Amino acid sequence: MKTFYIETFGCQMNAHDSEKVVGTLLAEGYQQVPTVEEAELVFYNTCSIRDKAEQKVFNRLQQFKKDGKGKTFAVLGCVAQQEGDKIFEKAPHVSLVCGSASYNKLPELLVQLETGNKRVTGLSLDTDQTFDTPFTRRDNPHRAYITIIEGCDKSCAYCVVPFTRGPERSRTGASVIAETRELAGAGYSEVQLLGQNVNSYRDPSPAGWDFATLLTNVGQVPGIRRVRFTTSHPRDFVKAIVDAIDQHPSLCNHVHLPVQSGSSRVLEAMQRLYTRDEYMRRIEWMKNARRPIAITTDIIVGFPGETEADFEATLALLREIEYDSIFGFKYSRRPNTPALALADQIPEEEKTRRLLVLQELQRDIQIRRNADYVGRVEECLVEGFNKATGQWIGRTSQHKTLNFLRPASADDLLGKYVDVRVTRAGPNSLAGECVN
Ligand code: 5AD
Ligand code: SF4
Repeated sequence: MKTFYIETFGCQMNAHDSEKVVGTLLAEGYQQVPTVEEAELVFYNTCSIRDKAEQKVFNRLQQFKKDGKGKTFAVLGCVAQQEGDKIFEKAPHVSLVCGSASYNKLPELLVQLETGNKRVTGLSLDTDQTFDTPFTRRDNPHRAYITIIEGCDKSCAYCVVPFTRGPERSRTGASVIAETRELAGAGYSEVQLLGQNVNSYRDPSPAGWDFATLLTNVGQVPGIRRVRFTTSHPRDFVKAIVDAIDQHPSLCNHVHLPVQSGSSRVLEAMQRLYTRDEYMRRIEWMKNARRPIAITTDIIVGFPGETEADFEATLALLREIEYDSIFGFKYSRRPNTPALALADQIPEEEKTRRLLVLQELQRDIQIRRNADYVGRVEECLVEGFNKATGQWIGRTSQHKTLNFLRPASADDLLGKYVDVRVTRAGPNSLAGECVN
């Protein structure tokens, strides 16, 4: 049993966990293959943030219930942690179930599988360790992800993450800097710091860096031109973070700050630990920054008890802040979460209606805001080439997509930084011409 296939669902943390899992498997002598058919060992790294995400892995497993004979199936990630042993009942052809807090044990669990064990699990959440490995196999050649904090100590009423990823554990600042240096040495110019609650970071070593200090230090590693971070919790979002972005051009002027709702009443029911006014203060810091900071957010519509007036408050918040983009979601009931007990669930059709209204408003905002970029010159990291349109795909510091044509496009621009004049703007991207 030496070939494996892995499919990943969910967030950036999951994607990066998979990079570490793949590295670990390669180091153990396994060989990665591009299809399930070729693989002896099949991994699904799963997400359970909403019911739809959770169902994906069960659909996949169902698909291979018959044709999967002779293969070994392994379920990793948030569904693994959430469902635990129950996965063996739902999908008896699964042999390994392991949550992200137990990935350090994967080599050991694989040995157990190799020696003929039919059911092995890694489900303990009782850990103060992070999953650090020298073997990370990175998928993205331009941007390297670095986990700085795992788990979550908040208890948002709708959210499974505290149950699936365990308590918060931060890596030492020294190990983060060492990894950043190594990445810069390997040619990466952009890093993205990851955590479910990235700004709750606290260096466990005597240095005791807070998040803003870590960010500043990462931004000063020679060779690193761009530093991003995600996801921030408004409660722990302090002014020092905005000050750091102001002072260090290597820190990208983009902040993803999930608000979830514009109604203080709903925020309280969600146990978000801030009011609308407190959130707005953080927005003010960013609006007053020297470099314009792009602000993006997550919104949940149809949380139990959300009235029409509450929803209107969210729409008003969008109009007031004018986010650069948003991710909108319909509330989904999740196992174990406090919100399960709340009365007054909103009907599905009403959630759908609210989501559409939200997205339509945001589309207008983006059309208007993006139009302001026409005529400006933006520095882009070139991330791809679109053969169909003949355009290069660039990414601005604000994380906007800027597609551009270059007259003499013979040379390879991938991974390079170029200046692009914006000539057109759509709701979701910009287009322009390279000026250098
Ligand atoms: N239902 C809908 N959306 C959710 N999110 C988290 N939990 C739920 C849920 N139960 C959204 C939040 C979060 C994003 C990653 O997913 O907006 O910020
Ligand atoms: Fe999905 Fe949340 Fe787990 Fe990420 S942490 S994989 S978004 S449930």
